[in-house]
Amino acid sequence: MSDIDIQRETWATRAGFILAAVGSAVGLGNIWRFPFQVGQEGGAAFLLAYLLFIVLVGFPAMLVEFVVGRHTELNPVGALRAVGGGTWTYVGWIFIATGFVVLSYYSVVAGWTVRYAFLGLQDGYLADAAEAEAQFVSLASGLDAIFFHALFMAVVIVIVALGIQQGIELAVRLMVPAIVVITLGMAAYAFTLEGAGEAYSYYLSPEWGLFLTEWQSILPAAAGQAFFTLSLGMGAMITYASYLGEDQNLAEDGAIIIGFDTGIAFIMGLVVFPILFTAGIDPADPGAGAIFVSLAAAFGDLALGWLVGFVFFTTVAIAALSSAISLMEVVVSYVIDERNVDRKIAASVVGAAMFVLGIPSAYDLVLLDLIDLFADQILLVLGGLLLMILVGWVLPDLAVDELSRGIGDLGALAPAWIWAVRIPVVVVLIVALALGILEY
Ligand code: PHE
Ligand code: NA
Repeated sequence: MSDIDIQRETWATRAGFILAAVGSAVGLGNIWRFPFQVGQEGGAAFLLAYLLFIVLVGFPAMLVEFVVGRHTELNPVGALRAVGGGTWTYVGWIFIATGFVVLSYYSVVAGWTVRYAFLGLQDGYLADAAEAEAQFVSLASGLDAIFFHALFMAVVIVIVALGIQQGIELAVRLMVPAIVVITLGMAAYAFTLEGAGEAYSYYLSPEWGLFLTEWQSILPAAAGQAFFTLSLGMGAMITYASYLGEDQNLAEDGAIIIGFDTGIAFIMGLVVFPILFTAGIDPADPGAGAIFVSLAAAFGDLALGWLVGFVFFTTVAIAALSSAISLMEVVVSYVIDERNVDRKIAASVVGAAMFVLGIPSAYDLVLLDLIDLFADQILLVLGGLLLMILVGWVLPDLAVDELSRGIGDLGALAPAWIWAVRIPVVVVLIVALALGILEY
């Protein structure tokens, strides 16, 4: 490990840290995956299971990443070496590898959102489902996709290269409020659409029957989504917390971050479904590509749909950007801390490598889905699980000590947190990992 003589960067303000973490959490997961999961897997019944996992699994796991990051003030590899040492250091490597792989194709999908925002301004969207599908196939792979993948990655590089305060913190101060305001505005617009009533009941009526027969698949889906949506299991929250200069109440910060992530995900359902129902499109098809097709077709059908589509896809692109910078920062912080490389060079080299690694995904959508499945359901869960075992079972005292900085005496919160990490979090992750491996 190299000692760096210059002082490590920190967030300028507590709000800066919270906004950056919210920006990381609110991403494609909130907009694509979440509303469609709720709609298909039991409506309000799924929502309840999801909220349970957020509180029982997501919240304790987020605090684990926070304390490891703030305690060590290091990148994930350095952090794991410092608190665990020996073989545990490899857990840090899993985080770096996951961040690397995920951003390579996350950027391809984000590139589609940029492409689709431009589409509204250019030719508008195609109302015919078959034509919209053909258009997606031609835009989502090949040179077009590579161009927008490169464009998106270039913006991520610039923000990360500018550093914590001048780059990431400044960017999220603009982006996160914009996401919140535009999402609320779109929900208000969607409320006025004629299909709104039907859409709300599709989205929110509890289907206990489905839940009772399908809980074996619904519960792991809810657990996996809780982990992914909060940006856990990739070291992103370790990295962001490593830039905390002063002691603040991490439990409170975590609750605020989770509140925003869950709120935006929920409201996105109130945006997406009225649009689809009003255009008479069946929201049954899941998957990133299918959602592009059905939403674009809906925008093709609505009055002023080009404008609504432009605003919608731009918002999605911004949300993807504020998530992507946290993924790149995981790898860049490692290169800076451990290899003593200048930040600008680190960001450029890492970004270029991620761009190249993403090219196959920009050519082959089946490959993209396969890599996504591998990263989400195996790599991410594996890294997360090992970290929870380390902190919950090996280092509980260190963790409790660190969490109490900025809070004071934790009282009953300490055992509640550690036991949540030890049993529910670990069990849920083991089950999710087993199912993920079976599925793969
Ligand atoms: N939380 C992001 C989303 O919901 C995805 C993400 C995961 C971002 C891990 C960074 C790290 O889309
Ligand atoms: Na999210």
